[in-house]
Amino acid sequence: MDDSNLFPISRRDLLIAGASSAAATTVPAAAAEAATQEAPVRSRVTLEVNGAPRTLDVDTRTTLLDALREHMHLTGTKKGCDQGQCGACTVLVNGRRIVSCLSLAVMNQGAKVTTIEGLGTPKSLHPMQAAFIRHDGYQCGYCTSGQICSAVGVLDEIRRGVPSHVSADITAQPVLSVAELRERMSGNICRCGAYSNILEAITEVAGAKA
Ligand code: FES
Ligand code: FES
Repeated sequence: MDDSNLFPISRRDLLIAGASSAAATTVPAAAAEAATQEAPVRSRVTLEVNGAPRTLDVDTRTTLLDALREHMHLTGTKKGCDQGQCGACTVLVNGRRIVSCLSLAVMNQGAKVTTIEGLGTPKSLHPMQAAFIRHDGYQCGYCTSGQICSAVGVLDEIRRGVPSHVSADITAQPVLSVAELRERMSGNICRCGAYSNILEAITEVAGAKA
């Protein structure tokens, strides 16, 4: 039986057509990959870090966290999740706490950045650092830099009257309560579970009763 009507294209022709179509899709893919490998855009950024001016030439995609750790070697600020969920990378920027993994270095041009290295010194600890030691507010210590910077920021927020999700009256001065501190510190995760001691340390610095 002549099956040329059933199979109008020979197996050989089919293989040749398949090879050319694969080549046609590979070339644009290679071009797209080459395009993504173009040299990164770089920018000059000047920051004041722990009281000292620092100028960096960075890829514009560099986070503030990586600028601190990899470019300035301030490794006290920790990288946990690198996606804004653990608080380990918390620093103070112009006195306000932020997670530095979610902020690009270039977004902070001219800002005053305070890391754990700039809060106190081994001989003259910041009151929050001293309170964390007194109350055993850490175990492995990985989250501690972020906890301390965040706690300093929290007390400043309360002093400035910034309400939180648990503030009963958002127009009134927030009351320094355990509920307020827990809510405001909820973005700082501690895998060691030192939460109750951390709360005691912050409460002591705040001059309130837990
Ligand atoms: Fe920034 Fe986890 S490393 S929030
Ligand atoms: Fe270990 Fe907080 S002290 S994660």
